[in-house]
Amino acid sequence: MQNIFIFDTTLRDGEQSPGVSLNVKEKIAVAKQLAKLGVDCIEAGFPIASTGDFEAVKAVAQSVEGPIIAGLARTDEADIKRAWEALKDAQKPRIHTFIATSNIHMKHKLKKTPDEVLKSAVRAVELAKSYTDDVEFSAEDAFRSELSFLCELFEAVIKAGAKTVNIPDTVGYATPWEFGEFIYAIKERVPNIHQAAISVHCHNDLGLAVANSLAAIKNGATQVEVTINGIGERAGNASLEELVMALYTRRNYLNADTKINKEEIYRTSKMVSTLTGMVIQPNKAIVGKNAFVHESGIHQDGVIKERETYEIMNPAMIGVPGNNLYLGKHSGRHAFKLHLKGLGYELDGEALDKAFKRFKELCDRKKNVLDEDLIALVDTEILKGPETYQFSYIHVSSGTNIVSTATVGVLVNGQLHEQAAIGKGPVEATYAAINNIVEQEFILENYAINSVTSGRDAQGEVVVKVLYQGKSFTGRGISVDVIESSARAYLNAINKALNMTKIIEKAKVEGM
Ligand code: KIV
Ligand code: ZN
Repeated sequence: MQNIFIFDTTLRDGEQSPGVSLNVKEKIAVAKQLAKLGVDCIEAGFPIASTGDFEAVKAVAQSVEGPIIAGLARTDEADIKRAWEALKDAQKPRIHTFIATSNIHMKHKLKKTPDEVLKSAVRAVELAKSYTDDVEFSAEDAFRSELSFLCELFEAVIKAGAKTVNIPDTVGYATPWEFGEFIYAIKERVPNIHQAAISVHCHNDLGLAVANSLAAIKNGATQVEVTINGIGERAGNASLEELVMALYTRRNYLNADTKINKEEIYRTSKMVSTLTGMVIQPNKAIVGKNAFVHESGIHQDGVIKERETYEIMNPAMIGVPGNNLYLGKHSGRHAFKLHLKGLGYELDGEALDKAFKRFKELCDRKKNVLDEDLIALVDTEILKGPETYQFSYIHVSSGTNIVSTATVGVLVNGQLHEQAAIGKGPVEATYAAINNIVEQEFILENYAINSVTSGRDAQGEVVVKVLYQGKSFTGRGISVDVIESSARAYLNAINKALNMTKIIEKAKVEGM
C-alpha cells in the first residue's frame, strides 16, 4: 500500500479564497489542529505577500510541532530570503518556490522566455537549498505547459536539489484521464524523477480536483496538495476530507492510503468553516450537514436493518459528534474542562474562564446545550484576539411599520460606552449605534446567519465581512439572540481590523 503524503495548503491557497483573512492567532489554531489531524506538511502562507502573512508563517513555524512547515516564494531572491526568515525556527522547514511554465503565463504574465524561466527556477532552487535541504518546486499552470519543456525544467530543478516537484492544474482545466496520463508521461520522461517526490495540486473549476488528484495517484504521484473543505482561489482546491476518505474507503482498489487521523476530520472542518466564515454546503461530501442523513423511508429502513445498506463510511469514524448532552447549568468548571477535552479542546486559565462564563450564560437561555453548541461557542469566543471594543449589552425595539431603534453598550478599556441609533431594521440600527461608538468608517460588505443546531432555541451564528481601509475582515458572533450575535460579529470584525492595523504599524516602526 502506497502512503500518500498530505500537503495541506488551507492557510495559503485556502486563505486566498475571496474575502477570507485569518489573523495570526487563528492561523496558529488551525495549524495546531492540522497537526492533530496528522497532515504531513502545512503550507502556512506566502511570507513576502504581506506583513501579516510573514508574522503568521513565523508564528506557526515557532509553535507547531510535528508536520513540515512550508512557506511559498516566487523564484525571486527577495521572496526566498523572506520565506526563510519566516521559516527558520521550524522543526522541519520547507521552502516552496514556484514559477509559471505555460506559454500563456510566460508570455503575458511573466514576459519571459522559456529559457529565462528555466534559469530562474534553477537559481531559486539553488538559493533555497542553501538554507534547507527540503525544497519543493512548483511549475505553475503545469497542465497547460508544453510537456517537453516541463520535463526539461523538472530535470534541471531536481538536479539543482528540489526534493519535491509539484504539478499544478492551476486553472482546473484537466479531466482525470488526461491528468493521469500527464503524470505518467512526466514520470517516464524525466530521467532523474526518482530523486524527487511527485506532487499534484488541483483546482476545482470544473469540480474535478479530487478526481484528478486520484488519477494522479494511480499514475505515480505520492504527494497531494489539498485544503480543508476544499476552500481556495475561485472554486477552490481539492478537498482534504474527500481525498482522504476516498483513498481510505477505496484503498483496496487504489492501493494507497494516508496517515491522517480521520476522527479529527469533522472538527477540523468545523473550525476552518467557523474561522474563515466559509459556510459548508449541506450536501458537501463527508462534512456537509446532510452527508449522513437518510431522508427516504426506504433508506432509513435499510440503515436500521444494516447500516452498510446505504452507508459506505461510518460518520463516527470522521468524528461527527452525537447529539450528546452531558453538561448542564449545574456542571462545575472541572467537568466542563474535561468535557471540552473529550471534544478535542485543551483550555486553561483565562480561555477556560471565558468559555465557562459563556457556557453558563447559554445554559440560562437554552434548554439543551449540545456538543455542537459547545464547539461553535468555543471556536467563536476563544480564538478572539485582543478586544478594543467588548460587547456588554443590547436593547432593541423593532416591528412592522415602525422605525427600529437600538441601544448598545460596549466596554472600552473597562469603561461602558453607550449609544442609540435608528435603522430600517434591528440589525441596521444596531450597527449604526456601534458606528457611533467606534467613530470610524467600517463598511459592512456581507452578512450571513446560520443556526448551529436545529430547534427553536438554537443558537444563531452570524458571520460578517467588514471593509476597513481597503481590506476585508471577517467577524463572528454567536448567541441564542440573533441581534446579539449580529452585534458581537460586527464588533469582532472591527477588533480584528484594528488589531491588524496595529501589527502593520508596529512592523513599519521596526522597519520591516
Ligand atoms: O495553483 C497553483 O498553481 C498554485 C501554485 C503556487 C502551487 O497555487
Ligand atoms: Zn493553487
